Amino acid sequence: VSDMLVDSFGRKHTYLRISLTERCNLRCKYCMPEEGVALSPKTQLLSQDEIIKLASLFVAGGVNKIRLTGGEPTIRHDIEEICTRLKNLEGLKNIAITTNGLVLARKLPQLKAAGLDQLNISLDTLVPAKFELLTRRKGHAKVLHSIETAIEMGYDPVKINCVVMRDFNDDEVIDFVELTRYKPVNVRFIEFMPFDGNVWNSKKLVSYAELLSLVHFCSGCNRLRLMADGNLKVCLFGPSEVSLRDAIRSGVDDSGLQEIISCAVKRKKAAHAGMFELARTQNRPMIHIGG
Ligand code: GTP
Ligand code: 5AD
Ligand code: SF4
Repeated sequence: VSDMLVDSFGRKHTYLRISLTERCNLRCKYCMPEEGVALSPKTQLLSQDEIIKLASLFVAGGVNKIRLTGGEPTIRHDIEEICTRLKNLEGLKNIAITTNGLVLARKLPQLKAAGLDQLNISLDTLVPAKFELLTRRKGHAKVLHSIETAIEMGYDPVKINCVVMRDFNDDEVIDFVELTRYKPVNVRFIEFMPFDGNVWNSKKLVSYAELLSLVHFCSGCNRLRLMADGNLKVCLFGPSEVSLRDAIRSGVDDSGLQEIISCAVKRKKAAHAGMFELARTQNRPMIHIGG
């Protein structure tokens, strides 16, 4: 069985994801319809013994990392036991879970004791009201608390998964990047994918390429543009401009000018909204802007 996990292209599969439950304590719009999804009868789900049995076969075949997922894995009552038993499998080097973090904080001590190596927590917004809109449930503070608890318990890095959706959280990308400055977290931005019943549409997709340009270009931006006609532009991608010429010519004094400039700079967004948005808005020709 030594090649059981090698495919016809020679890829060796060493990483197994095991879903522990179909249930979840959130109702994320990108994951499921409002009413939830039909659940398999309990008898059709893998028992703890069956999970361990199958996992041991995979590990014997070369799997060295197992990630527990769901649904929401932490609502399976025997997750700690499952972890402990997996940990005993010879050859398994890494046990991870992917969780929404809602009830993680109180389960974490037992999970850590059971040998959990790695934690990925889903968090798509830093704004509580937006969290409720997206997940159709309350609990933003609990997720943040779980992230803090994981950090305190020594998980480093804690990985945060953020699904980026246009006009929902694409304006928070840089705020998420900023988190990594102060906390031992990695943020992974995930492209919004179409699944049954999840209100996907291509306009909401922020592509990987666009995300890269957002993060690399905007977060270190130190540019201001004073154009020939006296307009100050704080972002190449934004139509917003303020006329310093008009201000000077109407007799505004230096401190007034400084105030106007400061206001314009403070209004600068964390990141531009992307090429497509730019294409939809009126913007001057580059010859006016000066590059
Ligand atoms: P790590 O072990 O920390 O790298 O975690 P992971 O990325 O394998 O697991 P996680 O459950 O955090 O995955 C988050 C999301 O990343 C998934 O839901 C996918 O959207 C995406 N993802 C993970 N693995 C793959 C993959 O093999 N291909 C693609 N296209 N996307 C993936
Ligand atoms: N598109 C992209 N990622 C998704 N996830 C759930 N639904 C989608 C979707 N439609 C993410 C979760 C979690 C990870 C396992 O998958 O937010 O972080
Ligand atoms: Fe789906 Fe995860 Fe949201 Fe639960 S927390 S509804 S499994 S995306």
